[in-house]
Amino acid sequence: MSDNDKPIPPVEGSVRKHVYDGIEEFNKRLPNWWLFTLYITIAFSIGYWFYYAQSGLPLSDGEKVELEIARIQTAKLTTDLVIDDASLWAMSENTALVVAGRETYDSLCAACHLTSLKGKSESPVAIGPDLTDDEWVHGGEPLALYKVVDEGVLAKGMPPWGPTLGVQKTAEVVAYVLSFHDAP
Ligand code: HEC
Repeated sequence: MSDNDKPIPPVEGSVRKHVYDGIEEFNKRLPNWWLFTLYITIAFSIGYWFYYAQSGLPLSDGEKVELEIARIQTAKLTTDLVIDDASLWAMSENTALVVAGRETYDSLCAACHLTSLKGKSESPVAIGPDLTDDEWVHGGEPLALYKVVDEGVLAKGMPPWGPTLGVQKTAEVVAYVLSFHDAP
């Protein structure tokens, strides 16, 4: 006796009204495990939608990419650090390095150049010149600024910072000053 010859067991429940190609369909309730799975996915989708689309808590993909690019740029600029005009301008556009430079500036330079960087032009008490205008005693190119900060101008009261700060921190503080200016 083949499978086809077995008697079809009786099915409980009514038959639905439509017929297709002679096929009829029982009106059966969906099994509980199936309904349960459906309700769970609906509840999950609401939580998911709220967390990702409404709450503003997780970083968007775009923000993650930007963070990663900034991290790579910072790493690139600080490994095998090259001190030339182009790389100092590039550092002045990198938020992480400029923030680091500002910390150094506020603790070591603000006494003479003021936290506003405006120095003498803001207050007669300040002895350092304005670092935000375009008038420079020693030239406004990034390398010229680096040289003054690194070696100082002792006779005029500007201490040399290179020996205390080292290359990386000197470059950062110059990048901070440059961030007040527009790259050519
Ligand atoms: C003790 C006071 C003093 C401190 C602290 C000081 N400076 Fe100066 N700075 C001066 C003076 C004075 C000059 C002007 C030098 C000159 O006329 O040759 C100057 C000049 C400069 C110049 C060149 C400006 C130009 O017009 O060419 C830069 C750049 C500069 N300082 C940056 C810094 C940075 C960055 C720091 C902190 C790491 C710093 N200075 C800390 C007093 C100071």
